[in-house]
Amino acid sequence: MPFNPSDIFIDHSKFNLDFDFKEAEEAKNILENRTGAGSDFLGWVDLPLEINPAQIKALRESAEKIRKLDSLILVGIGGSYLGARAVIEALKNPFQNDFPIHYLGHNLDASYYKKLLDSQKGLRYAVNVISKSGTTTEPAIAFRLLWKDLSERFDSSYLKDAVIVTTDAEKGSLRKLADSENLTSYIVPDDVGGRYSVLTPVGLLPIAAAGFDIQEFVNGASAMRKYLKDTGGEKNPAIKYAALRNSAYRSGKKIEIFASYNSNLALFAEWWKQLYGESEGKMHKGIFPSSVNLTTDLHSMGQWMQDGERTIFETVIDVADTERISVPEITGSDDGLDYLAGRDLNEINRAALSATIQAHSEGRVPCMRIEIPKVNEASLGAMMYMFEYACGISAYMLGVNPFDQPGVEAYKTEMFKKLKKPGY
Ligand code: PA5
Repeated sequence: MPFNPSDIFIDHSKFNLDFDFKEAEEAKNILENRTGAGSDFLGWVDLPLEINPAQIKALRESAEKIRKLDSLILVGIGGSYLGARAVIEALKNPFQNDFPIHYLGHNLDASYYKKLLDSQKGLRYAVNVISKSGTTTEPAIAFRLLWKDLSERFDSSYLKDAVIVTTDAEKGSLRKLADSENLTSYIVPDDVGGRYSVLTPVGLLPIAAAGFDIQEFVNGASAMRKYLKDTGGEKNPAIKYAALRNSAYRSGKKIEIFASYNSNLALFAEWWKQLYGESEGKMHKGIFPSSVNLTTDLHSMGQWMQDGERTIFETVIDVADTERISVPEITGSDDGLDYLAGRDLNEINRAALSATIQAHSEGRVPCMRIEIPKVNEASLGAMMYMFEYACGISAYMLGVNPFDQPGVEAYKTEMFKKLKKPGY
């Protein structure tokens, strides 16, 4: 059955703040008409509609070659890895030995590197190195180590299929290497920034290599793209989300907590944090995006959320349909929990969710609930597209350019000075 984007909707009955859609609708028009700041980075807006069957086929063929090897090491950082990892972690069974995917180049932690490299010793692994600029320190170091290992052990016919480069069409050292070594390569389009790139080969190849259906993922995003373009006012979840969060920000709620009751969405929250943090946190403005995994964190952060400083609002992801597990009875138990016997675990989880929303909103935390039908490729594609689109709207409402990141240069300059990079 085709994915229905209206199955993703926002319930604001416990938000308890006034808001209006007019400003968000105007910001939507700025985005659609490409008249706002950073409009040369809007290639992602129609991307899901532009991906064609030949591109999907090529990505699937590369993925099949990768899956014939022992594992895949995905090398990238920020927008060049979080989207793929969010989808893979949301869909995989963490307790089964499916095709192993490891991540490298998203930190500089030598012990992490050592452990990962030791674990791959002698293995026939694939590498997908993803860097739009080709100059980012972390993935460049990771790739050097892996390239040295593989090129010492294997000939060019192995490297051609096992090392896949995803980078700029023309610029950068990775493009040069891909061309000179005749490696399989994919392009990050010029007009798509890292954190908006999950629907390019940046996200699609690793997701396909993990064994998931990238056509369905794209279909979900395409359906959402059409729906957001054609739908006005409250029915448009991107307009509504942007309007709600900006009304919270303006009333002093400077921290947004993304709360998920499904443990497989923990990495999705990391992707969402980067999207909003890097798009909005500039010119000394912006909501601070944070996340909790519930009910787990109700036993660590719950006190703060209920009773701490009232500067937060909550965005709660509510998955309507998950697996069915019935709680059994234990004979002779006196823990007082037998009233739950025979009840469905997701029903209990969702009861915890709505009870917590009730309690937190009574504790003066505005709460919105975003319902999604279930966690699958199509709904993840739709949700990611919706959050990207809402982020563009929301940043325009805030008065910042959603598509640049001037602030990340400051630490790099200091680090390059310390490391004595030529020119610094
Ligand atoms: O969203 C962004 O633009 C960043 O997070 C980048 O993706 C990240 O810094 C990695 O950059 P690059 O792909 O050039 O290595």
